Amino acid sequence: MIQVENLYKKFGKNEVLSGLNLTIDKGGIFAVLGPNGSGKTTLIKSILGMVVPNKGDVSVSGIAIKKNWKYRQEIDYLPQIANFPGNLKVKELIRMIKDIRQRPSDEQTLIELFKLDSFLDKKLSTLSGGTRQKVNIVLAFMFDCPLLILDEPTTGLDPASLIRLKELIKKEKANGKTILITSHIMQFVAEVADEIIYLLEGKIYFKGSIEQLKKKTDQTDLEHAIAAIATTPANA
Ligand SMILES: Nc1ncnc2c1ncn2[C@@H]1O[C@H](COP(=O)(O)OP(=O)(O)OP(=O)(O)O)[C@@H](O)[C@H]1O
Ligand SMILES: [Mg+2]
Repeated sequence: MIQVENLYKKFGKNEVLSGLNLTIDKGGIFAVLGPNGSGKTTLIKSILGMVVPNKGDVSVSGIAIKKNWKYRQEIDYLPQIANFPGNLKVKELIRMIKDIRQRPSDEQTLIELFKLDSFLDKKLSTLSGGTRQKVNIVLAFMFDCPLLILDEPTTGLDPASLIRLKELIKKEKANGKTILITSHIMQFVAEVADEIIYLLEGKIYFKGSIEQLKKKTDQTDLEHAIAAIATTPANA
């Protein structure tokens, strides 16, 4: 589904991605993990064509993305920081995104699921952080693309909403979608992810199942395995 080859990205002197290689097969939930600033969002944005790499190639569904923007129509994306126009009402934003994307959508089920009905006529600038994140989730899930990229989808959600998000993600997986997620909440990752992709020093330091990671780091739970990973030799 996604192929990343020898990807380099520098911001000034800061080399964030240094020859990163990654293959993601079709179908399943892939968790992109790594410390703050390790380049998870930069990698995601490179896949989306929102960051232009200094070197390397990305292809999605077998098509090189360079100078070819059409593939993006087949990706649903939840940004880590959504800068919504504050003066728009929630319903106006949903309508605007539908107009831009021009594909079938089912926002009503999601609005009901996240109990957003009473917020539809409110301006985005007046919403709480968690409610704004629920709007972000509706915008990402309301279309039906085969690839779903979620950058920190759990941010600010209350426990009931987090349960709904997990169910939603699992449902999309059951529908055969490929889902890429970043999160710092290890309990969430342990519950949903089929595979862990751990980014460190600009490269993929580990890729494999949670069980493999626990074994490699000699830990019994994911949180400790992740905390221990950077001190475990790459070839262990
Ligand atoms: N547009 C930019 N201009 C300059 N530096 C940037 C830019 N975007 C990202 N960076 C830098 O690149 C590095 C990686 O950032 P990135 O946002 O990809 O990290 P991350 O792994 O997603 O972190 P987090 O866990 O905090 O979300 C950081 O040092 C960041 O400051
Ligand atoms: Mg990030």
